Amino acid sequence: MSSALKKTRVVIIGVGAVGSTTAYTLLLRSRVDELVLIDANKNKAIGDALDMNHGLPFLGKTKVWAGSYEDCSDADIIVITAGVAQRSGESRIELLKRNIAIYESITDEVLKYNKAGILLIASNPVDIMSYFTWKKSSWPFQRVIGSGTLLDSARFRYLIGDKLAIDSRSIHAHIIGEHGDSELPLWSLANIAGTELTLSEEDKQKIFTSTRDAAYKIIEAKGATYYAIALALDRICTAILKNEAAVLNVSTLLTNYHGVSDVYLGVPCVVDRSGVREVLNLKINEDEKQLLHLSADKLKGLIRSISM
Ligand SMILES: NC(=O)c1ccc[n+]([C@@H]2O[C@H](COP(=O)([O-])OP(=O)(O)OC[C@H]3O[C@@H](n4cnc5c(N)ncnc54)[C@H](O)[C@@H]3O)[C@@H](O)[C@H]2O)c1
Repeated sequence: MSSALKKTRVVIIGVGAVGSTTAYTLLLRSRVDELVLIDANKNKAIGDALDMNHGLPFLGKTKVWAGSYEDCSDADIIVITAGVAQRSGESRIELLKRNIAIYESITDEVLKYNKAGILLIASNPVDIMSYFTWKKSSWPFQRVIGSGTLLDSARFRYLIGDKLAIDSRSIHAHIIGEHGDSELPLWSLANIAGTELTLSEEDKQKIFTSTRDAAYKIIEAKGATYYAIALALDRICTAILKNEAAVLNVSTLLTNYHGVSDVYLGVPCVVDRSGVREVLNLKINEDEKQLLHLSADKLKGLIRSISM
């Protein structure tokens, strides 16, 4: 088949709350020709595929099916949103080890069938899952991408825009580092069309705390977060499929990034058909640099404790 006729295919592995909402978002926006759903709970994937297919008369021509790992062979992007929840009495490290074991078995299967696609990781802790998946795959880091702080940056921009009564799409502001408690806001670079933000220190603190703790609040309220992360994953898929060269805060392998190396963290990257084409070297200040190092040290400590 010539490349002009090649159908675009996205496979989603783990169609729980995040995976099925991501599939539905891709479907609503007619992003791909083929959408494959895979889950350890085969019935969930079958049910979702049927349910989505019944909406096609209102949408377009996307082909959706509950598939198997063989279907990864033609995939442009394999999104992994599989995961297990914490058991009672289980430590975070034990949970992490279980999730890594699941990822290893998923990656083994995907690699049997796909050599040239892009792995897009969303399961938490996303930076660590991305790092292990990259190591396991032996693929170039450019093709193993974590959703990183794209969602956190969206939350940050929304909250700043809400406070200043400006459309959040016009707010240029970044959260970098871990997708989690050690993430950091880059206030020194935040702006609206080049103008400084008119926010008090107290407002800034409130906005950052609400950004960082947003997932806890949503999970307490309804058990899981899935709409905004689905839109963030759709955004990354679109940048890849349309070869956009869009700047997105995804999780990628850092090599001497302000002195940080050998860890995956969320930073602004140019994302196109090749994956992470380029990691942007931000001009951050000394305080921000220190916080970035703390975030990296935290994740490296976790990686060491699982590897032991
Ligand atoms: N990166 C982000 O910004 C972000 C945001 C929200 C959630 N998440 C993470 O996404 C992950 C999924 O969250 P959720 O709310 O959808 O959870 P969920 O429990 O609703 O779904 C997980 C799904 O994974 C499936 N699964 C488990 N093991 C599997 C395997 N070996 N193969 C295939 N499928 C398997 C389960 O059957 C289930 O359907 C979690 O790790 C969560 O923390 C990340």
